[in-house]
Amino acid sequence: MESDITYLGKIIRVDSSSIEVEVSDHIPSSAPIINGRLYKIGQIGTFVKIPIGNISIYGIVSAVSNTASKDLKEGSVNKYIGSRFLTVQLVGEKIGDDEFEKGIGTYPTINDEVHLVIENDLFEIYGEKNEGSIEIGKHASSENLSVYVDIHKLILRHCAILGSTGSGKSNTTVSILKSILNDYVGSRIILVDPHGEYASAFPEAKVLKINDKNNPLYIPFWLMNFDELAYFLVAAKPTDDQRTEYRLFRELVTSLKKENYDLKAGKVNEDLITADSPIPFNARKLWYEMNWWLNASFTTTKKDEQKKETAEIEDDGDFDNLLGAKFKSHLKTASNTAPYKSQHIEYYAYEKKILSRLKDSRYDYLFNPGEYKDEKSSKDLHNLLNEWIGSDERLVILDLSGVPFEVLDITVGLITRFIYDSMFWGRNESYTGKKRPLLLAFEEAHTYLNKNESNCYSKNAVERIFKEGRKFGVGSLVISQRPSEISETILAQIGTLIALRLTNSGDQSIVKSSSPENLNSLIDLLPSLRIGEAVIVGESIKIPSRVRIKLNNPRPTSEDPKLVESWTRRHESNINNYKTVVTKIREQKI
Ligand SMILES: Nc1ncnc2c1ncn2[C@@H]1O[C@H](COP(=O)(O)OP(=O)(O)OP(=O)(O)O)[C@@H](O)[C@H]1O
Ligand SMILES: [Mg+2]
Repeated sequence: MESDITYLGKIIRVDSSSIEVEVSDHIPSSAPIINGRLYKIGQIGTFVKIPIGNISIYGIVSAVSNTASKDLKEGSVNKYIGSRFLTVQLVGEKIGDDEFEKGIGTYPTINDEVHLVIENDLFEIYGEKNEGSIEIGKHASSENLSVYVDIHKLILRHCAILGSTGSGKSNTTVSILKSILNDYVGSRIILVDPHGEYASAFPEAKVLKINDKNNPLYIPFWLMNFDELAYFLVAAKPTDDQRTEYRLFRELVTSLKKENYDLKAGKVNEDLITADSPIPFNARKLWYEMNWWLNASFTTTKKDEQKKETAEIEDDGDFDNLLGAKFKSHLKTASNTAPYKSQHIEYYAYEKKILSRLKDSRYDYLFNPGEYKDEKSSKDLHNLLNEWIGSDERLVILDLSGVPFEVLDITVGLITRFIYDSMFWGRNESYTGKKRPLLLAFEEAHTYLNKNESNCYSKNAVERIFKEGRKFGVGSLVISQRPSEISETILAQIGTLIALRLTNSGDQSIVKSSSPENLNSLIDLLPSLRIGEAVIVGESIKIPSRVRIKLNNPRPTSEDPKLVESWTRRHESNINNYKTVVTKIREQKI
């Protein structure tokens, strides 16, 4: 009704997804107070309603102008000085007492009335919290209005939290994970935390940390497939496939793995073991074997007769202590008498590289993974899975702050692939796979899911989850301040986008193009959002919304250093300062 206090005006143009409204000159007020609340007409991002019989169509104001769009195009003189025109993007409809649904079944037409949406309408749209939802925050326009998201779609259709640094991404992540953990006792979440900032926000979570004394995170190197192992140990690429040393290296790894088919998690058919199988073996033995063939001397000079049986060995050495075998020297003898120099020099380029990797304490989480070290160790991969995804804590934080930058990619790749594989092969088990889905959250995703990097172990693994994880119960959440650097495959598969303040225009346009709904008007708000305020669009939310997320306590440790406090105080110099720092740099241990 035109006399209603909510009346705005009439439709003057309709196209496939938007309409244009001429605001009436006779509206009762341009800032009406309804049920004690002040509403402002024509605010970008606010909702309007078009009642047609028992159907209400809802839209979002995306532009305001004092010139009708047809006049703008034709360049004619503005006949409507003093009038206002709103462009409104249609988002969904509510039929009778049914719930609000996204998408438009019935289009409005010219001269249909348009009304302001008031708080009561919003309560109807957002509805009550139900079994399948979590509260994500409060609506930006109303402190009383809780905004819920559908947890099934949020997780299994994947989601992203994007925003400039300091916009509140980590806090939003904490809010969401806390709501999930509070509301769902069977939930389980793995949070990949490259800066080690989340442990403080979740005192009840299980935190596993690289190179930590009390709760060490181990990622046994033998989880790597052969290409990863070869790249990591000797910087060989799969394109080296034709080289003899690469082929021999593969055979050596296969034979070491085949020795260990009788494992704690169960026997494995020896014939099915390849260089890629996640079977434990001793990395020191691998080095020892290479070293053995390089340094050996033999009773014969012919290469194909230079075998273990014909070696002139003096001392077996000890692989566990990285002591190579000793042989009779071929140098002391005349050139035509035994012992003869080894002709097996293929591993020449590899052996020293492997030795230096094994001695580097930064890689202890890979090569000395405690009770997962090798086939003789007390634990096997089922123990690792129980620790990561089967524990009672439900949230497991994998703190990767001790991982050297150059192996962050492989580390995240290994974690992701192993978890994905466990869900894929466990898809029919009663306790995992589809029967108990899992959320994998990736903080600082741009550092390892970068579209420009040539090494892309983690990107490949995460892309697979985005493409196929849903079928096996794996959902993911990526958190990043540089959406423009993230793999496009990942961005294209995001079901729900939680976009916080974003100032960089390149990042904004990526968010716009990867937004699951074509709602540029809301995305245009990104640079003007307040800290902790987000635009949420996508499958899991009833209607695209601007939401305030509460500040959590305890918080992640991502706060700025107290610069002024530090700089206003004098600091004494001391000759012994920096000793511990240098030792830490050398040992790469905090
Ligand atoms: N919802 C909120 N309400 C009020 N203040 C907030 C909110 N969220 C974050 N802040 C403030 O902003 C600071 C930065 O937040 P947060 O660490 O979540 O940002 P971030 O986007 O994760 O930053 P970075 O990119 O550096 O990781 C917080 O320490 C807090 O003081
Ligand atoms: Mg953060």
